[in-house]
Amino acid sequence: MSKNKKLAIIGTGNLGSAIARGLKESGSYKPKNIMLTRRHLDRIAEFAEMGFKLERDNLEAVDWADLLIITVEPQQMDRLLDEIRHKIEPQRHVIISCVTGVSIAQMKSRLPENTTLVRAMPNTGVAVLESMTCLASEGNNGLALRMAEEIFSTVGKTLVIEEEQMAAATALGACGVAFFLRAIRAASQGGIEIGFPADKAVFIAAQTSLAAAKLLLENKSHPEAEIDRVTTPRGITISGLNTMEHQGFSSAMIRGIVTSWEKADKLYKD
Ligand SMILES: NC(=O)c1ccc[n+]([C@@H]2O[C@H](COP(=O)([O-])OP(=O)(O)OC[C@H]3O[C@@H](n4cnc5c(N)ncnc54)[C@H](OP(=O)(O)O)[C@@H]3O)[C@@H](O)[C@H]2O)c1
Repeated sequence: MSKNKKLAIIGTGNLGSAIARGLKESGSYKPKNIMLTRRHLDRIAEFAEMGFKLERDNLEAVDWADLLIITVEPQQMDRLLDEIRHKIEPQRHVIISCVTGVSIAQMKSRLPENTTLVRAMPNTGVAVLESMTCLASEGNNGLALRMAEEIFSTVGKTLVIEEEQMAAATALGACGVAFFLRAIRAASQGGIEIGFPADKAVFIAAQTSLAAAKLLLENKSHPEAEIDRVTTPRGITISGLNTMEHQGFSSAMIRGIVTSWEKADKLYKD
């Protein structure tokens, strides 16, 4: 459906670069069919060597591509939409916006009538084909939604949600990468204190967190069920876990996620 279409990533910064790498890595999309735009093209020069087309002019990209993935910052969105609106052909283009906090209605108000829009909230896991991408569209955009699912399922897992849950998807899925990385860093710091050199501590902590995630996903189980399997009465694991809870471990994570969720909704409006 989308694999033979020409695709442009508009605003190729951190996320856009990760998507480009992931699509190439997946083998399902050819770099020659993907155009990357940003104003400072020198910062993504390496992608030209990988076979991608690079373009400074967004209008050229809109002319060339059928599918547009937008990955600019929220405060850059209005200017971008105003710039490209006269080149958008509603019968031809499908726009997938990864931009935090900008609703489909807000985008529609700046684009030609009947423009097809999908919102996607991936994370930087796209670069290693392990993104969690939440997708939302309007009710009548089934085909566009399936195209977005096809693209993002080549670089990880996808889940279709209601648009009103997008801020929550940002906090839990997109910001979540940083939250779990901080948890791994904290574990590795503990590991250093009890005797491992830094590199070995990070390796053990990262591989152990991968094991925990895979146990959940492959066994389709609840975290507490997996925890029950490693905690014995009066054992060493439960005493470590309870000490962490006394220090507010779960509470800190919950509060952090709620804070990010509150901010995600306000980013564009502010
Ligand atoms: N990073 C993540 O993990 C993540 C995950 C999910 C969603 N998001 C969302 O994705 C968006 C991008 O995030 P990011 O972290 O990738 O930000 P970023 O690194 O700042 O990337 C945005 C890029 O857009 C380019 N840009 C800005 N205005 C442009 C224009 N008019 N035309 C072409 N390019 C333009 C900028 O490059 P130049 O200055 O060179 O033009 C910049 O590199 C944000 O809305 C963010 O909320 C990010």
